[in-house]
Amino acid sequence: TPPLLFSNKVHFPRTSRHLPQAIIIGVRKCGTRALLEMLFLHPQIQKAAGEVHFFDRDDNYGKGLEWYRRKMPYSFKGQITIEKSPSYFVTPEVPERIRAMNASVKLLLIVREPVTRTISDYTQLRSHGSTASSATSSATSSSKTPPQQPSFGRSFEDLVLLPDGSINESYRPVAISLYHTHMHRWLEVFSRSQILVVNGDQLIEDPVPQLRRIEEFLGIEPRIGRQNFYFNHTKGFYCLRNETADKCLRESKGRRHPRVSPVVVTKLRRFFNEHNQRFYELVGEDLGWPE
Ligand code: A3P
Repeated sequence: TPPLLFSNKVHFPRTSRHLPQAIIIGVRKCGTRALLEMLFLHPQIQKAAGEVHFFDRDDNYGKGLEWYRRKMPYSFKGQITIEKSPSYFVTPEVPERIRAMNASVKLLLIVREPVTRTISDYTQLRSHGSTASSATSSATSSSKTPPQQPSFGRSFEDLVLLPDGSINESYRPVAISLYHTHMHRWLEVFSRSQILVVNGDQLIEDPVPQLRRIEEFLGIEPRIGRQNFYFNHTKGFYCLRNETADKCLRESKGRRHPRVSPVVVTKLRRFFNEHNQRFYELVGEDLGWPE
């Protein structure tokens, strides 16, 4: 059991469950868990346990908002409830459904440099022994796509490149990294000022400045600081610290990535460059990813 202050299962008097006022909508493998756990260091934040998947799964959505509210943690008046379900970002129905719940909700989108994200996603799918059928998006399939073979045991290079050497855009880890193709749907439903783009690579390097931006965006006091982090050299990542305990994210967060041929990395960078520019234009921010 986690130490008390890292747990949200306690029902204090004068607390109740509230629909989230802020949601981490994605992107998968960009540090969504780290972000939620880090925000939970703040005394004004409560987090839902696990991933709720209310808006992206029709069976859950069909259960209604009261079901969703009951998945939320107990919170004091004035606290902000946050949940994270990374597949919200890529599921077309989700923006409109969230708007229907609360048109002034605040949305957090954490992104990483797309080549790193693609490799991270591959690493996770491989660790689950996933097959190509679940790793390939039908929505993004193109006529260029050859019949899919099972991906289990196949190298990154083999999955990411088509036989003619071009990038396999329908390989799910690539399709998800084409951020602008998903982002435009959100901006059709929400104003830009309601969405904060968090730099996931910087959250790894130096979490506090990113968290400061988020505290301001959420309208809460700047409370998360250097004292809340220590670098764990064995893990290679920052771990979290509050008044009572130290906590690193679990082993599945911060996996070792396979070595990818530099030629393929360069090819991917070139491929993503144009898409990154379109994302920067959409959000009005330059994330500075290598070209
Ligand atoms: P890798 O395991 O590929 O390194 P998500 O929670 O969205 O699945 O994201 C997982 C990623 O969070 C990890 O990807 C890791 O790089 C990143 N991350 C960010 N901060 C971290 C931290 N303090 N500890 C562990 N992983 C962190």
